[in-house]
Amino acid sequence: MAHPVRSDAEVLSVASEGVYHRLVLSARDAAPRVRPGHFATLAVGGPQSAMLLRRAFSIHRADVEAGTVELVVAERGEGTRELARARPGDRLDLIAPLGTPFPLPDGPVSALLVAADYGSAPLLALGEEIKRRGGQVGFILGAATADRLYGVEQARALTQDVLVVTEDGSAGLQGLVTDPLAQAVKAIDATVVHACGPMPMLREVSAIALGLGVRCHTAVEAAMACGVGICMTCVLPVVGEDGVSRFVRSCTDGPVFDGARVRWDDIGTVPPDLEGAAAMGGQG
Ligand SMILES: Cc1cc2nc3c(=O)[nH]c(=O)nc-3n(C[C@H](O)[C@H](O)[C@H](O)COP(=O)(O)OP(=O)(O)OC[C@H]3O[C@@H](n4cnc5c(N)ncnc54)[C@H](O)[C@@H]3O)c2cc1C
Ligand code: FES
Repeated sequence: MAHPVRSDAEVLSVASEGVYHRLVLSARDAAPRVRPGHFATLAVGGPQSAMLLRRAFSIHRADVEAGTVELVVAERGEGTRELARARPGDRLDLIAPLGTPFPLPDGPVSALLVAADYGSAPLLALGEEIKRRGGQVGFILGAATADRLYGVEQARALTQDVLVVTEDGSAGLQGLVTDPLAQAVKAIDATVVHACGPMPMLREVSAIALGLGVRCHTAVEAAMACGVGICMTCVLPVVGEDGVSRFVRSCTDGPVFDGARVRWDDIGTVPPDLEGAAAMGGQG
């Protein structure tokens, strides 16, 4: 459990990186609690706003000494557009850290980190942590276009094993992050894959990793209303260790899941064999 705290966080800086905005926030109480894979939520619009729901963001970095957390924000709708306009000195209502982090190895491992768009935000700190534990990492970073890539130089500072893939070929290889995946796993002899990005990508990455006999931990981005386990808007069908499928909350049981346990093809449905499905009236 993450033990989140709520902070009146001062915006220390906002930097544009490609199409993204990297916000550094003062969050002295939250920073020491953060592990790679945790997320944060921000209230948007101020006390009079009609935007009632908090917005969720992966925590990119936490610096305990500086007492800061960093978020990478892509403009999507009204809430993120407003965050992109934040200026140093503004204050944001932050809750962090939330969710489950990526599992960390006890010793040295070789890990492949795979991300699309801003999905790299939580993976760079994870890569640093794996290296601190004596392991090695490789990255596959992808996006539709070059300006939607995030963290390529940060990844290159960690390892020479960085593959860049864009759908239009404007940077790196042309294609999808899944195209070079099997080869990249073999090239660095990876025993685990960590991935963050859209659901269809995570489904494919999990399937490929599973086929290679490699564990795969996926950080999902399910639409979230409360972010703290109350409302059940974020549930996914997941197979438990007892073999029984249940809806689990991606905000508190995730967002990091063992990719082999998520029923990717059933997301958005109520599978009839799910525990409690009859009571929900679901027929798939
Ligand atoms: C665990 C998690 C981590 C995320 N990490 C990042 C990140 O690092 N950087 C980033 O830019 N975005 C991230 N997102 C997506 C981000 O939360 C949405 O882009 C944002 O909530 C959209 O708000 P909006 O007001 O701009 O858009 P609108 O579309 O106007 O939002 C309306 C409502 O829909 C919800 N919503 C819309 N799209 C999404 C979405 N894809 N996921 C979840 N809720 C959504 C919003 O929370 C809001 O309640 C993450 C989402 C989750 C769940
Ligand atoms: S977002 Fe409310 S339970 Fe997960």
